[in-house]
Amino acid sequence: MENRFVTWLEIDLSAIEDNVRRLCALTRTPLMAVVKANGYGHGARQVARAAASGGAAWLGVARLAEALELRAAGLRLPILILGVVSVAEVEAAVAADVALTVPSVELARAYGQRAAALGVQARIHLKIDSGMGRLGVVPNEALTALREVQRHTALRLEGLFTHLARADESDSAPTHAQLASFQTVVDGLREEGLPLPMLHAANSAAALNFPEARLGLVRVGIAMYGLHPSAEAPLPEGFRPALTWKAQLASCKELPAGHGVSYGHEYLTRGPEVVGVIPLGYADGFRRARPNTVLIQGARAAVVGRVCMDQCMVRLPAALPLGTEVVLIGRQGSEVISAEEVAERWATNNYEVVTGLGARVPRVYTGER
Ligand SMILES: Cc1ncc(COP(=O)(O)O)c(C=O)c1O
Repeated sequence: MENRFVTWLEIDLSAIEDNVRRLCALTRTPLMAVVKANGYGHGARQVARAAASGGAAWLGVARLAEALELRAAGLRLPILILGVVSVAEVEAAVAADVALTVPSVELARAYGQRAAALGVQARIHLKIDSGMGRLGVVPNEALTALREVQRHTALRLEGLFTHLARADESDSAPTHAQLASFQTVVDGLREEGLPLPMLHAANSAAALNFPEARLGLVRVGIAMYGLHPSAEAPLPEGFRPALTWKAQLASCKELPAGHGVSYGHEYLTRGPEVVGVIPLGYADGFRRARPNTVLIQGARAAVVGRVCMDQCMVRLPAALPLGTEVVLIGRQGSEVISAEEVAERWATNNYEVVTGLGARVPRVYTGER
């Protein structure tokens, strides 16, 4: 089949659906599919639909605009905005029936007052900072925050949650400490005679490796995409990565010995060399870091010279036809370049690799059921 694009991402939605089904079976807990940042670069709407088919009960996003995009696409599952929204955004969030995270006493008050002024009720999840040091009320202020929430009839407390900072490490002590700290808040709530809302704490790594963290809901991102939470918290057998990054070879020519390649001529051909051009660069999320490798004809080819904004060059064993398929992330024949391998090359994690893939790279969906 003729390829429409010079570079594109192939997203296998059956992998997302199967991974979600596997996670539901493993955790036996309702699952929130975390589709923030355009579904970790995979496409939020498409991932959300596949996750729903696989059994997801909730959707999680970071921003109001992401929630509204899902509603506009017809997704009806409950949505929680895991990040903050501005007070001005409360009206649109409530109108779209989207739940808000309350990360502080101040925002409980501000959201409560705004919802009351609008004559609406906002669904909220109070966030406890049990050790992440990011958004959330610290445990010894949790009761104050809960009382503030109770004072506002325009706020409906639907959930109480926390986020784990180190669940992807082999040392379980920091996660146990966070869970214990969260539990003290839950106990305090009970002692106050307040009704217990839905409790949630687990990201992918915790959902897989800390059964006690599953509580009433697991919030799963990276594992759903078939990517490992970390080297210390790998996925069990059977998960499949959904994303493959492909391109077509755009040019191929033999250069004489000592010829410079790309800006700065940092690479000089060592003899007569066949140099191919791949039509993607750092504006597509392919970093300038070195070394970089791609797959062509089922074998690895080294990227030579600096990666440009829209192109990069590879050294080839022989001249190849234009349009020859190149794989940047994924499988070609028996060779695989995983997002984890790319992350290691770029001194980052797989989350940053996939969320950094450029918006201009078309996403092509396969495996829709
Ligand atoms: C609050 C919250 N919950 C859950 C997740 C999902 O994490 P993961 O992709 O590690 O499963 C995230 C993502 O960063 C998050 O911010």
